[in-house]
Amino acid sequence: MHRKHPTARTRNPTGTRQARTGDGKRAGGLRERWLRRGRGSCEGEGRKVAGMYAVTLEGFGGPEVLGWGEVPDPAGPAAGEVLIDVAAAGVNRADLMQRQGFYPPPPGASEIIGLEVSGVVEAIGAGVTDFRPGDRVCALLSGGGYAERVVVAATQVLPVPDGLDLAAAAALPEVAATVWSNLVMRAGLHAGQLLLIHGGGSGIGTHAIQVAVSRGARVAVTAGSQPKLDRCAELGASILINYRDEDFVAVVGAAGGADVILDNMGAAYLNRNVEALAEDGQLCVIGLQGGTTGELNISALLGKRGTVHATNLRRRPATGRSSKAEIIAELRRHLWPLVADGTVAPVVSAELPATEAAEAHRLLDSPETVGKVILRIDER
Ligand SMILES: NC(=O)c1ccc[n+]([C@@H]2O[C@H](COP(=O)([O-])OP(=O)(O)OC[C@H]3O[C@@H](n4cnc5c(N)ncnc54)[C@H](OP(=O)(O)O)[C@@H]3O)[C@@H](O)[C@H]2O)c1
Repeated sequence: MHRKHPTARTRNPTGTRQARTGDGKRAGGLRERWLRRGRGSCEGEGRKVAGMYAVTLEGFGGPEVLGWGEVPDPAGPAAGEVLIDVAAAGVNRADLMQRQGFYPPPPGASEIIGLEVSGVVEAIGAGVTDFRPGDRVCALLSGGGYAERVVVAATQVLPVPDGLDLAAAAALPEVAATVWSNLVMRAGLHAGQLLLIHGGGSGIGTHAIQVAVSRGARVAVTAGSQPKLDRCAELGASILINYRDEDFVAVVGAAGGADVILDNMGAAYLNRNVEALAEDGQLCVIGLQGGTTGELNISALLGKRGTVHATNLRRRPATGRSSKAEIIAELRRHLWPLVADGTVAPVVSAELPATEAAEAHRLLDSPETVGKVILRIDER
């Protein structure tokens, strides 16, 4: 079922369809390059038919470069793939970086922004047995989520449990896969341990608090404002640190040190994180908001028998060792029962229609936003 967009479809003299930004300007740039390269909007190889609407990029820059226009439709699905009629897409910090030109899609991925969606299965490819047309699902993508339709490997799709709002489910795949692969699969977080989460009020942070509490761990968080810390406390964090006027090394040190740290700051916090680790502690770096290059005090790490992990989700292979498929299978088996019974729930600050993608990006960047921002592809 392919929805029509109220905006009139226009053609240029060469007959190719024109995308338009929110203020009505023609959206060329990336989309035009992408059309010239003949890429589809699906994961993997390009297979195009007709058209669909998607959030477009007029160029790299601020939120105003985001528009809404017609792009080629992914045909298919091919063997092992699922075609999803998208209801909603989660907005991630990575999307803001891609919009600015700092986070290009990995080879073969769609150049349309969007790392996670929820929606309804429209069609399945040969060999897909886990899903059927009509199923409510959410999916982890390497790109292409801010669009009416997306094709993705069935191994990256999860069912949306009964009772969970379909749009809210778009908030889950990226944070769940990132948090589970780092805290559980890498660091083996378990009951009685102390976890320090930097940016506790973020999409990642609000999810990580719930997962850690469900495993019986104690949770310390950093955040830059009291409302964010209050929300972290509601979710189960017991040590609340305002990084603007408190030293997290001192606070966590007084609690015995962190067994695991989930870090979004990279270089800026590297050595203070090592200082904050308990003996045998593990630092999981997932974000580089404080820079990419730091000097590590190996002596301090060695003295504690510490470990530094650094992982990226988007660039993982689709299948095989350390793949997206491996993580999604673990989520389905271990985390999804907790999502189904409400122990771990999406934390959503705002839902905006697809035509307001620019505002959605501004909101995610605002210090007032706690948890996730959702783009309603089915509303505009
Ligand atoms: N490696 C991966 O595979 C992967 C996957 C997903 C996300 N990530 C990363 O995980 C991080 C969170 O992602 P998201 O989408 O959840 O982002 P988000 O919702 O935009 O949150 C970013 C957070 O950074 C916090 N922050 C800013 N300065 C800080 C500081 N000095 N100390 C502590 N926190 C600070 C902000 O909180 P305040 O307002 O309180 O300052 C904000 O909540 C990002 O760095 C993202 O790139 C990595």
